Amino acid sequence: MTFSNLLIHWYLQNKRDLPWRNTNDPYIIWLSEIILQQTRVAQGLPYFNAFVNAFPTVFDLANANEEQVLKLWQGLGYYSRARNLHATAKYVVDEFNGIFPDDFNTLIKLKGIGDYTAAAIASFAKNEKVAVLDGNVYRVLSRFFEVENDLSENSTKKVFQKLAQELLPNDNTNTYNQAIMEFGALQCVPKNPTCSSCIFNSNCAALQKNKVHLLPIKSKKTKNTNRFFTYIIVEDSSNQYIVQQRTEKGIWQHLYEFPLLESNDVLEEASIKTQILVQFSNVTVKEITFIKSETIVHKLSHQTLHIQFVKLKCMEKLNHGISVEALKKLPFPIVLYNFIERFFYK
Ligand code: ADE
Repeated sequence: MTFSNLLIHWYLQNKRDLPWRNTNDPYIIWLSEIILQQTRVAQGLPYFNAFVNAFPTVFDLANANEEQVLKLWQGLGYYSRARNLHATAKYVVDEFNGIFPDDFNTLIKLKGIGDYTAAAIASFAKNEKVAVLDGNVYRVLSRFFEVENDLSENSTKKVFQKLAQELLPNDNTNTYNQAIMEFGALQCVPKNPTCSSCIFNSNCAALQKNKVHLLPIKSKKTKNTNRFFTYIIVEDSSNQYIVQQRTEKGIWQHLYEFPLLESNDVLEEASIKTQILVQFSNVTVKEITFIKSETIVHKLSHQTLHIQFVKLKCMEKLNHGISVEALKKLPFPIVLYNFIERFFYK
């Protein structure tokens, strides 16, 4: 049997029954792929179900407001993906009368859709003969064929693209693409795969040469930066709170947060007090409390956030204060949402 036939054979016996595999609606497939770029299948499933429930068609998603979309996305991270999702739904409604495209060349032009997503949608929805290339596929191919090109080099993608495209069977591209990704997710996993039970264990080049743990090669690790956030929980005389929407580009754009002091290092208490008195000179401070038990380190893909919280109780009722119930309905970064759950509901 050929490589592709073996994979398809394996897939038909081992695949997980996942809801987006029982449809060829490009809109539903698109939703699943955008969510699954963010997270693993188990964590992505409830998000997928929530999106399909709230927005069964591309018209529903296009007509939603951004806050609703961000709220449903809450916890997945990389919120620009949610905003792109919304923008693309509107575009498809306006430009294509709501008919979601299913061919690679049209899909690739849409916001938030790159080579991988365009190939996934086109192959799953209409069996177009385009190979998917994601982390799973790089791993399977690099090991089986002992491809030693460095994934950190720009030129490497072309090498894998060519190989992946050559391996496509003449028909069943949809099943084959699902199969190779599923094989990478379940069998040819990054760490300690059980090669003894693998269908390819007599012809996998990496296994023969004892190099499975060395492939694929990725020399450059992504750079990580540390950021230091001090959030001020401003509570007014009627137990309402100040929140603001982040407008700047970068993490959490358009999500809500508490008033923030960002610094180059951990802020000392004295310095926080001074800055609070300047920033909130328009309110009468009753009490400032450092919520030490809530100090957290929160890791994002390229940033490590060192977050502390301070409560500022003021004497008057503030114009823009909102209740805990109201603020809970807004989209927050998950780290702040979890803080809200712990802090206000203990
Ligand atoms: N990860 C990305 N796309 C996927 C899919 N269609 N099925 C399972 N896992 C995936």
